[in-house]
Amino acid sequence: MIRRLFSKSQPEVRDTDRDWAIIGETEPYFGVLTAERFKRKNLDADAQSDFFRSGHSDVHSFIDRMRLVFGAFDPRSALDFGCGVGRLTVPLAELTGTATGIDISPGMLAEARKHPHPGLHFRDTIPDEEFDWVVSAIVLQHIPPERGYDIIANLLARVAPNGGATIQIMFGRNEAHENTVGARLVIGEDKVRPIVSVVKHENIPAGIMIMHDYDLSLVVGLFYQAGFKRLFLDHCDHGGIIGATIYARKEA
Ligand SMILES: C[S@@+](CC[C@H](N)C(=O)[O-])C[C@H]1O[C@@H](n2cnc3c(N)ncnc32)[C@H](O)[C@@H]1O
Repeated sequence: MIRRLFSKSQPEVRDTDRDWAIIGETEPYFGVLTAERFKRKNLDADAQSDFFRSGHSDVHSFIDRMRLVFGAFDPRSALDFGCGVGRLTVPLAELTGTATGIDISPGMLAEARKHPHPGLHFRDTIPDEEFDWVVSAIVLQHIPPERGYDIIANLLARVAPNGGATIQIMFGRNEAHENTVGARLVIGEDKVRPIVSVVKHENIPAGIMIMHDYDLSLVVGLFYQAGFKRLFLDHCDHGGIIGATIYARKEA
């Protein structure tokens, strides 16, 4: 009874770091882009080059967007939070000269460290430094928001004056995903509403990827608090999980 009362007041947050340690050891590429051809047994040279080409194209579309919205933007350093095997970190280093990738998963970091670019650095914690551009894509959705909001605040504090941030979060999902773990908002054809049923994560085995929705107004509040007064948002839809890539520039 006491235990039940305790767990009611402090709902357990899933240890997603453990999930990602397992995914990084077993299927590091498929863990980043879930297509069959990126599974270890299928990952030939063509698949590998397509995998990294997608990162190059993502980074260039991010910087094009930053420049379109905020004008001249020429970052000389980048932080890539949740870097995985370096899909975005490598093109970020090519673009800026130096990029630091952060990841919790040793298996992911081991793969990422195979890239030879001299301006690449990989670590498992966010350093207490400033960067001209802080990027995080397809990562926060895999971290429970109970932890993720603090991470976002920390990332935004790492952006140098006049620097930029490009951060992707998910904030809702369509009705087909209404009863999945991590859902906060259902975005239906005719209305948007909070979810009514919450499925528990406890029965899902370790090593499984779970998607988490964030509260967008809370996230926007964190940007405001960190000194980003102009934001631009592009919607994204990953198979019915709906989110936003937020582009922002800090005051000089
Ligand atoms: C889907 S992958 C995306 C990798 C990379 N951002 C990309 O777009 O290629 C998600 C990554 O986030 C990492 N991750 C999950 N939780 C994390 C945490 N708490 N801190 C740092 N990285 C984390 C995972 O290990 C994984 O490498």
